[in-house]
Amino acid sequence: MAHQALWSGRFKEPLAEIALKFSSSIEIDKQLFQEDIAGSIAHVEMLAATKVLIASEARRIRTALRVIRREIETGKFKLSGQFEDVHLAIEQRLIQKIGALGGKLHTARSRNDQIALDERMYLRTAVRELCKLIIQLQRVLLYKAEKYFGVLMPGYTHVQRAQPIMISHHLLAYVSMLERDFERFQECRKRLNKSPLGAAAFAGTSFPIDRHLVARKLHFDGIVENSIDAVSDRDYLLEFVAAASITMIHLSRFAEELVLWSSKEFHFVHISDSYTTGSSIMPQKKNPDMAELVRGKTGRVFGSLVSLLTMMKGLPLAYNRDMQEDKAVMFDVVNTIRQCLFIFSHVLVHTTFNKKHMEEELRTDFLTATDMADYLVRKGIPFREAHEITGKIVSHCLERRMFFGNLDIDTLHTFSRAFEPDIFDYILPHKSVEQKKSAGSTSPQEVKKQIVHWTRVLKERKV
Ligand code: ARG
Repeated sequence: MAHQALWSGRFKEPLAEIALKFSSSIEIDKQLFQEDIAGSIAHVEMLAATKVLIASEARRIRTALRVIRREIETGKFKLSGQFEDVHLAIEQRLIQKIGALGGKLHTARSRNDQIALDERMYLRTAVRELCKLIIQLQRVLLYKAEKYFGVLMPGYTHVQRAQPIMISHHLLAYVSMLERDFERFQECRKRLNKSPLGAAAFAGTSFPIDRHLVARKLHFDGIVENSIDAVSDRDYLLEFVAAASITMIHLSRFAEELVLWSSKEFHFVHISDSYTTGSSIMPQKKNPDMAELVRGKTGRVFGSLVSLLTMMKGLPLAYNRDMQEDKAVMFDVVNTIRQCLFIFSHVLVHTTFNKKHMEEELRTDFLTATDMADYLVRKGIPFREAHEITGKIVSHCLERRMFFGNLDIDTLHTFSRAFEPDIFDYILPHKSVEQKKSAGSTSPQEVKKQIVHWTRVLKERKV
């Protein structure tokens, strides 16, 4: 049986069971009970401080709220479908426990500012947690970058072999991407960490409340000034999910690389058995499911972003019940990205690179063709011409099923007199990497700089 709603005064008939069932959000928003009670306690303390409530009344309400929190934690009070939402359930329980006095808690407050408050508090914690997971993943990447320092791999564009690179360089690219993710979440936190409480339904209240005091009590950096905006805004959630989507893109791109690299076709990495799965029919199979799931879950997070954007786009000010739909999405995004960041660190720890195979692949291809062209440029040949000559040499090799290593100086002279015997050394994969000079390049010096930089940054970093 449903409880009599706290708003039932003007109604002659109770809410139909099926209407309650349809509109109740408690099965989802019950996850916000900690935030909701913390918000209520701060609110009631402020009501006492501003003399809207008598101090002893406020104290009794606060004590009862703490008891209710304990009851929910221990399962004594169940936040079940008979309530419309978490806010009403807690308030109803309060009134049940301390009688009419409990009804004073909602003075100068609305569920509209309450839910915005709860979400902001929840997301604030989520940002902290996700940032910690990002740092952890960056540290694993840095560890691997140090471990494989000096080892080369084929670098790709268009999934076509392009130039030799240091494995460390590739891994550190993800550290940079994750750094921007970290910054985006921190940036998002700035706007997130403002208190909407005291906006009441949307127009403010005639009670002499102190919005700043509640904000301080709940560790906010300030208040959302405009009370209409305070209850209508979900930008903080949109921004959060947008930031989460970008982070997921990064994880998904890396996941895709792991899927490719662990295939027999690439054979670049080995993911340990404990982070791969088998096939129920094909006995030989070993599948990179963790990476595939990260890639797959990325779609879910994008879907959440689109769902929120669509939900918000036509809503007139101020609060509309449509906005209740934001919570399922919010929880799903937080849980999904949290799991993905977490598992990714572990998968990476248990992934090793097949050094030998990659070195072999580097020798039997044309990844240093750009270096050959650059060599000719150094001899005074314009780059476009050097490009053309080298292209012809590649074509010559392809026709004869050979590689640069099989060429001799006489053959090279048929393409350009500028070649000298030192060309053979110049186009060795490790030379290609070592010769790179530009900032941020794949040369050992530049990669080392990055390692030093990130070691310092990540060592000091705290959230
Ligand atoms: N359950 C609602 C939500 O999640 C809380 C705010 C409801 N406000 C209202 N006036 N019905 O959005």
